[in-house]
Amino acid sequence: MNATFNLSGTFVVMGVLNSYSLAWQIAERLRRSGADVIVTCQSLDLLPNVKKLGEKVGIRSIFVCDMEKSEDMDAFFAELANHAPIAGFVHGAAYSDPKELTGRLVDMSRDNFVRTMVVSCYTFLDCCRRVEPLMENGGKILTLTFGASLASCDNYNGMGLAKAALEAAVRAAARDFGGREIAVNALSPTTMRTAAARSVKDPYPLAYTWIATSLFGRITKPEEVAAWGAFLLSPLSDGMTGEVVYIDCGKRSSGMPPKRHAHLVAEMNGKYNPSSATTSAAATTGE
Ligand SMILES: NC(=O)c1ccc[n+]([C@@H]2O[C@H](COP(=O)([O-])OP(=O)(O)OC[C@H]3O[C@@H](n4cnc5c(N)ncnc54)[C@H](O)[C@@H]3O)[C@@H](O)[C@H]2O)c1
Repeated sequence: MNATFNLSGTFVVMGVLNSYSLAWQIAERLRRSGADVIVTCQSLDLLPNVKKLGEKVGIRSIFVCDMEKSEDMDAFFAELANHAPIAGFVHGAAYSDPKELTGRLVDMSRDNFVRTMVVSCYTFLDCCRRVEPLMENGGKILTLTFGASLASCDNYNGMGLAKAALEAAVRAAARDFGGREIAVNALSPTTMRTAAARSVKDPYPLAYTWIATSLFGRITKPEEVAAWGAFLLSPLSDGMTGEVVYIDCGKRSSGMPPKRHAHLVAEMNGKYNPSSATTSAAATTGE
């Protein structure tokens, strides 16, 4: 997706871990479109690497903010007030204990349930509340979700719950902010090759299912997340709020794998070998 458009104003992107991070993909695209971009990462040890990424595209405002810590959030949003008005905001954080993504959802511990919901859903609402006063003439807020909010998936347990709650939070925040022309939306790509995805033990059945069922027979490309993210944060998407936008190569609208993906289904059913990293889904996801 190489379509270009120009953006002006200040945009904030929270939750960059590395160059694969979907938050980084969007931040980089916003910067290349001419926007001023402020980025956060979760911890001090990530800062040097994220700074190096920023240097390559001229993003110099990079802060550490652990969204679970009120003191970090207070400090970051106090700093952000110096950069107001904020035109657009991206929430790119999620977490669930990898050990509890497998097995049965009903065995999920209370502590991990709470932490999963706090990091993956509450922090979004917390960010919305804190950024609202800094959006003086309307604005755009965006988060990232996944289709396991709609249907249960192996090895995704609590994250599916968190994404369902996150999507409900998007609709509710869009209602809260509607009177101020602040749009709140979510992007829903397929599984993608990032650190968060690698915390899913044995990601291949999920990747296979998504790839085989999708109409394009592939996963979403990073540049597609970047372009759609920038679009949803731009005036080009004016008039839309409270939506989950699926850039899932047609997975959600597909009831079954197309016949042309019979080879993928055969691999999924017959040749799939969890101990092998040489399957075509593995090659496609790059894992
Ligand atoms: N990779 C995929 O397959 C995929 C698909 C659909 C949606 N998503 C969503 O995209 C978003 C970004 O994930 P990603 O795939 O780019 O992986 P990623 O690992 O690069 O990003 C996840 C980010 O969450 C941050 N984070 C976790 N806890 C935090 C905290 N307490 N404070 C601040 N930051 C915290 C991490 O530091 C990391 O930067 C997530 O919401 C994820 O669920 C990912």
